[in-house]
Amino acid sequence: MPSFWLNGQWTSVEVDPDRTLLEVIRGPLGLSGTKEGCGEGDCGACTVVIGTPEAGRVRYRAVTSCLVPAWSVQGRIVITVEGIGTPGALHPVQKALLEAHAVQCGYCTPGVVMSLLALFLDTPSPSDEEIRAALEGNLCRCTGYVPIRQAAEAIRSGFAAGTVRTEEIRPPWLSEVEAALSGDRGGTGLDGDRWKSPGTPEEVDRLLADLGPRATLVAGATDVQVARRTRGTSPGVWVDLSRVAGLADLAVEADRVRVGAAVRLEDLRKALEPVLPPLAETIRTMCSRPVRHLATLAGNLINASPVADTVPMLLVLDATVRIRGLRGRREVPVSRFLQGYRQVDRAPDEWVEAIEIPRADGDFVHFEKASRRRELDIATVNSALRIRWEGGRVREARLAFGGVAPTTVLCPRAADRLRGRPWTWETAEEAARTAMEEVTPIGDVRGSAEFRRRLVHHLVLGHFRAWQESSGGTP
Ligand SMILES: Cc1cc2nc3c(=O)[nH]c(=O)nc-3n(C[C@H](O)[C@H](O)[C@H](O)COP(=O)(O)OP(=O)(O)OC[C@H]3O[C@@H](n4cnc5c(N)ncnc54)[C@H](O)[C@@H]3O)c2cc1C
Ligand code: FES
Ligand code: FES
Repeated sequence: MPSFWLNGQWTSVEVDPDRTLLEVIRGPLGLSGTKEGCGEGDCGACTVVIGTPEAGRVRYRAVTSCLVPAWSVQGRIVITVEGIGTPGALHPVQKALLEAHAVQCGYCTPGVVMSLLALFLDTPSPSDEEIRAALEGNLCRCTGYVPIRQAAEAIRSGFAAGTVRTEEIRPPWLSEVEAALSGDRGGTGLDGDRWKSPGTPEEVDRLLADLGPRATLVAGATDVQVARRTRGTSPGVWVDLSRVAGLADLAVEADRVRVGAAVRLEDLRKALEPVLPPLAETIRTMCSRPVRHLATLAGNLINASPVADTVPMLLVLDATVRIRGLRGRREVPVSRFLQGYRQVDRAPDEWVEAIEIPRADGDFVHFEKASRRRELDIATVNSALRIRWEGGRVREARLAFGGVAPTTVLCPRAADRLRGRPWTWETAEEAARTAMEEVTPIGDVRGSAEFRRRLVHHLVLGHFRAWQESSGGTP
């Protein structure tokens, strides 16, 4: 039975491990302020704030509660719109939205309030870009985004002018609850017949050896929850990796970045900005911030979707997957780890501990994505390119595409076209034409096979244009 701090009250609720936090909040707990829209992480209506103790302080993140398993919030702080203000005494975020005329039907408003609460709990003077990013997961179909953004800007100005104070942003009960939290990952998790929350890697090894294919490992659970809802898949026994010691560690070394399997995409994005900016930028275009607060790099790779956005980058960067189990440890390059449509090289008693990514300092690395919307959309075709230079020419190139085969693929013949030659529009054209012959797309609702082939061509030229713009045409 999960227990957590809900709006300042220690709350326990008897629910099945398959239930989401959103279902529990709106159902047995009777708090209907949090809304359900899509139920799949796309609209942000269900956004709540979760507080987790990390490295001696509590970090607050806006998350889409429709993707969060209720059992995963054991011991954590959960804030919903009911916890931060009343009609007679509005919270500064609620007041600002009202004064900016940013509320019409109000269906999206609780989610917007929660996204802005998480932003201002962390950052009293966010940049315009930070405000935009904080709201990127909240769809509004009536008011439009300008007044919502203006409300956020008004709070920022209020901080600067001293008319909004930190104490007003923090709910009055928050300090007391923070003091009651223990442990650096929100304390120990829960154990039940269908929910396991191991605390060490050795416990995960033993659980997988015992449970075999009945176990469903979850890190962020974003893919697992969507599959459960859309395809009706049952997770069997949930094995939650989010509290395993060391699994959320992220190590930036001189030549590589080691990413633990429980590192959240948004934390990874921030850490990569100074060391591997092209991968940080790739992650920025994925999902929305509340989903990236849950999702992991390992989950994106292991799910083995042919259009997973990090996978072309992992392929061109020649990343390695560290796998372990009771029978021992092994390391496999991502190119061999991917075996087919949603198939990876992993036995039921094995699991992924970390991904190691070479840093590629000095190389040109770039990601391109063709989708119906520039951001927050699944790719029709995506691509990554890495070029290593020697004397103004291409010494080595790696080119990868997603959405053109059952799994993300490298195109070695197209990359060979560039080796030893200058990187010009003409050589890019040649590589693009070869790549079109190398891929084997099929048509589906997102585009015909022929359309996807043409996208392959365009994306190679997109890499070239991006290189010209970033380097002025000099290797
Ligand atoms: C609204 C929305 C938008 C999205 N947009 C994008 C997008 O733009 N681009 C994109 O690429 N993806 C997108 N995704 C997909 C998703 O966010 C990613 O695939 C995510 O990175 C999965 O990570 P996770 O930790 O949530 O995985 P989980 O759901 O926890 O796990 C995914 C799979 O990996 C297995 N698994 C997890 N961890 C381990 C481990 N350590 N060892 C072995 N097996 C493991 C699970 O059993 C499961 O099969 C989107 C998803 C949503 C809901
Ligand atoms: S209900 Fe749409 S994101 Fe959760
Ligand atoms: S105010 Fe109606 S959806 Fe945003």
